[in-house]
Amino acid sequence: MLIAMPNRRQLFTVLAFVVTFLMTLALLQHTHSIPAIKEALRPKPKPDPEPPASTHHPKHKQPPKYTPPPIKDNFPLLATSTSPPPIPSWNIPRPNLHKEHNLPVPPPLLIGFTRTWPLLQQSVVSYITAGWPADQIYIIENTGVQMANARGQLTLQNPFFLNHTVLRTLGVNIIQTPTLLNFAQLQNFYLSLSYAHDWPYYFWSHMDVLALSYEDGLDGVTPRYDEPGYKALYELAVTALAEARRSDPRWGLRFFAYDHLALVNPVAYEDVGGWDTLIPYYITDCDMHSRLTMRNWSLKDAKAGIITDVSVALDDLGALYRAEGVVPRFTDPNPPEEGAPSRRTRRNVNNNTPSSQLSAREPGITPRDGTAEHDLGKWRALLHTADGMFHYKVSNKGGRNTWQTGQRGGYWEPYHYDAAGFQEALEIITEAGKEVYRHKWGHRDCDLIEGGGLTFEDQWGVERDW
Ligand SMILES: *[C@@H]1O[C@H](CO)[C@@H](O)[C@H](O)[C@H]1NC(C)=O
Ligand SMILES: *[C@@H]1O[C@H](CO)[C@@H](O)[C@H](O)[C@H]1NC(C)=O
Repeated sequence: MLIAMPNRRQLFTVLAFVVTFLMTLALLQHTHSIPAIKEALRPKPKPDPEPPASTHHPKHKQPPKYTPPPIKDNFPLLATSTSPPPIPSWNIPRPNLHKEHNLPVPPPLLIGFTRTWPLLQQSVVSYITAGWPADQIYIIENTGVQMANARGQLTLQNPFFLNHTVLRTLGVNIIQTPTLLNFAQLQNFYLSLSYAHDWPYYFWSHMDVLALSYEDGLDGVTPRYDEPGYKALYELAVTALAEARRSDPRWGLRFFAYDHLALVNPVAYEDVGGWDTLIPYYITDCDMHSRLTMRNWSLKDAKAGIITDVSVALDDLGALYRAEGVVPRFTDPNPPEEGAPSRRTRRNVNNNTPSSQLSAREPGITPRDGTAEHDLGKWRALLHTADGMFHYKVSNKGGRNTWQTGQRGGYWEPYHYDAAGFQEALEIITEAGKEVYRHKWGHRDCDLIEGGGLTFEDQWGVERDW
């Protein structure tokens, strides 16, 4: 085999390589390593400057003079059990009740939650014990805390605390919003769920209500709980839904107990373009309901039960299950300081109970178990307490908020947000929304149709009328 002898030019190239290699080697020798070379080439960082010493000192707000006591869990029965107690037998709905009314799907009930767990828990339990099937109840967790509640990372004193375990034990569904939504956005989120789940209708209610069936009967609506033909809250709601669908092709909304519970026709919502999310809270209902009326969708009242607006929760939700020995009562979660002038509500205080407990009249003699007096006695005590809660809320209006300021812990927990700041910010956004409404309709009040003479086409197209 012949090996060609390199010519001079080739020799020169090889020589050049060798020389370059040796020089590189020498350089490496000098600097020890390649990282050292890189280090040597990097521009020298400037030394960290001292943080500028501000001459401005922020003036901190006065801390609240009074801290309310921590809130307590109000469902002791569930803490020691893996299943909820049985509901009053007369409120248990017949299986597939919706089919008796030719309804294609069982009606869902949506309850949105942002803060104040004891109230949500009370609202949910009151609907379940009034007969609404738990598996048709959807809790919409709208806390803005991402997975923190699902992972059990928040504690009871955190305003945004919600206990997934408890809700699962109760058998209700939980849906989480991807971010904190305002009221109008939440309503549109409900509408989006109707598409995702193929719901031709849905009910929604508030997390701060207490629902009771008409267990002592109501003329023209339902006989008493122990009489034939008795209809619990759920059955009356289903009946009203079936009636709306049967008799009114343009049914839009049905309201129960003002708007404490509402039944929605998603087709009507879609027809008017949903809720206006630029009017996020207060007066957005005037905007939406007027637009529905302008487009000839019907908004009517119907009756399903006694649904009370409350700001406090029962000390023990066992009362809603009519648990023996549990007297329905509630505690002021934000009692006045020692020596503070007594408030109107404190006149209700029963001297035999701890001073902060506002209690229902306790029945003098407990009638025999299983008799109508016994059952109705418990129900009336609940109704009386719900009434006391309502008056407590009304008397507290404009004064100190109750839960909103009472539950303010959880400092180092994920997504912590200052409780009072949250409230303050909501009020600012609410005001801004009212201003949007005024610009949109040229009218300041709720009465867009009668008072303003406005039509659907007038949105954003009229001058102010004041
Ligand atoms: C939720 O409630 C259950 C039952 O009362 C309790 O065991 C659990 O600790 C609670 N979870 C959180 C995160 O507080
Ligand atoms: C609503 O009803 C009125 C009166 O019957 C009618 O003039 C109007 O065209 C209707 N509007 C719509 C959007 O159906």
